[in-house]
Amino acid sequence: MTLVNKTKNTFVLTTPLYYVNDVPHIGSAYTTIAADVIARFQRLLGNQVLLITGTDEHGQKIQRTAENLGKAPQEFCDEIVPSFLNLWQVLNIQYDRFSRTTTANHQAIVKEFFQQVWENGDIYQGQQKGWYCVSCEEFKEERELLDDKRCPIHTTKPVEWRDEQNYFFRLSKYQTKLEEFYQSRPDFIQPASRRNEVLNFVSQGLQDFSISRVNLDWGFPVPVDSKHTLYVWFDALLGYVTALLEPDDPEPTLANALKTWWPINLHLIGKDILRFHAVYWPAMLMSANLPLPERVFGHGFLTKDGQKMGKTLGNTLDPIALVKSYGSDAVRYYFLKEIEFGKDGDFNEIRFINVLNADLANDLGNLLNRTLNMVQKYCAGKVPAIAPEVIPVENPLKAIGLRLGEQVKQAYETPAFSEACLAVLSLVQASNKFIDEQAPWSLYKQGKQEEVEAVLYTVLESVRLAAYLLSPIIPNISSDIYQQLGWGINFNNQPESSIAAPFTNHAKWGLLSDKQQLGTPQPIFKRIEPLKND
Ligand code: MSP
Repeated sequence: MTLVNKTKNTFVLTTPLYYVNDVPHIGSAYTTIAADVIARFQRLLGNQVLLITGTDEHGQKIQRTAENLGKAPQEFCDEIVPSFLNLWQVLNIQYDRFSRTTTANHQAIVKEFFQQVWENGDIYQGQQKGWYCVSCEEFKEERELLDDKRCPIHTTKPVEWRDEQNYFFRLSKYQTKLEEFYQSRPDFIQPASRRNEVLNFVSQGLQDFSISRVNLDWGFPVPVDSKHTLYVWFDALLGYVTALLEPDDPEPTLANALKTWWPINLHLIGKDILRFHAVYWPAMLMSANLPLPERVFGHGFLTKDGQKMGKTLGNTLDPIALVKSYGSDAVRYYFLKEIEFGKDGDFNEIRFINVLNADLANDLGNLLNRTLNMVQKYCAGKVPAIAPEVIPVENPLKAIGLRLGEQVKQAYETPAFSEACLAVLSLVQASNKFIDEQAPWSLYKQGKQEEVEAVLYTVLESVRLAAYLLSPIIPNISSDIYQQLGWGINFNNQPESSIAAPFTNHAKWGLLSDKQQLGTPQPIFKRIEPLKND
């Protein structure tokens, strides 16, 4: 499946808009790293990309947190937002829009959207009774709850009983339309396990959901009744739309927001907020008569001892500290390679260090270093003047290299990041093995210069291809490798109009030529000292 809007060559993707009840943790970083990798990959393909992230600032959870700290909610949000901006910078995230749900533009978009749904007759007043989890900002079914009426996700938090007048959205009206939509667009919800979850949930019968709260001020007033505050999720999902406004749009209207980038190609989210994105959101859009997004991908949780890491349970990792100790490429690489995207994965620091040492320091780093050193010794420091066609297709590295670009492209598009990493690693590992078997040092001693050159060319080209294909994940390391191979390309700085390293040329095996002036060999990833208790 191609993901791009074919007529426009645009690709829009979103992370969730994060709650600002606390500074970000590694769980919030996870989705954003994944989104950044997809965005970078799409840019290499030559598409115009818009990566949207931001913060979700209304609702009871934020209001309570601010109150407990004796702060006004807006003041509190304003204090937390910079910690997200800072984390994205530290993690080398190239986002295009940062959407905050407390802006005046957003209020205008929400108001206009509400009006359309209202005019369509899909909003009415009723009595809401049920158990509410403030941490999820969601009503829970009684059967979902753990003992002592605790939320299954925020296991230390009891849910709260609510019995109040609310405005409701007529979700039940969209039951059949949604079912038809899921049938006609089997790729809409991914991976397949999540699609099944949603189909199962919908088949049990959809109930209207309440979209307003009383006894809560922190949010937008319901446009038709200012005694009610709009439910945080109704407002938050529309943050994706507000983000599409251009800075120079004359007015914050739906027409302006939707004109260039809509519909969104991919919503990347965690599995806990699947229902909102795969059921409520498309129904809301249907009600407002708008085209639906292309895809929703629900990934798994980062866990600690099997429990979701999070602010509420306080069992999380500080991403800033992790980046300080190991660098942003290391953190990006570990989480994407080690956890199958879509499944849960436990973090373990010993494993973290082992993986980085094995893959980045030993396999990739040593390969580049030893090959460049041999090129200095045996080829006067110059890329051997070999035409790639001369290397036979049976050559084990060329054989992998010729199909790797397409394979990795598919993995990024799925997205299956660990598959992308493993495919690239197979070339890197085969290259190390090839050097050991061919032993260029002994070929050199025997005076077989042509063979030495063919081996070293083949390996250098394979390192280049590996670096290129991993560049969305480890842009700093890939830039260093490219620079040592004589390209002045920085993967963090790809101009939008003409990409410095387009996929069509650089993902092909055989690009390296003797025109490249090799740089000085330098380690690209320093081996990490194992922890004391290792
Ligand atoms: N504000 C809503 C989203 C609104 S989108 C219009 C929200 N915010 S959140 O901050 O609680 O969560 C944001 C995302 O972070 C979710 O996709 C959630 O799954 C993800 N993660 C939070 N903790 C996580 C882990 N421990 N592991 C992986 N992702 C997790 O929900």
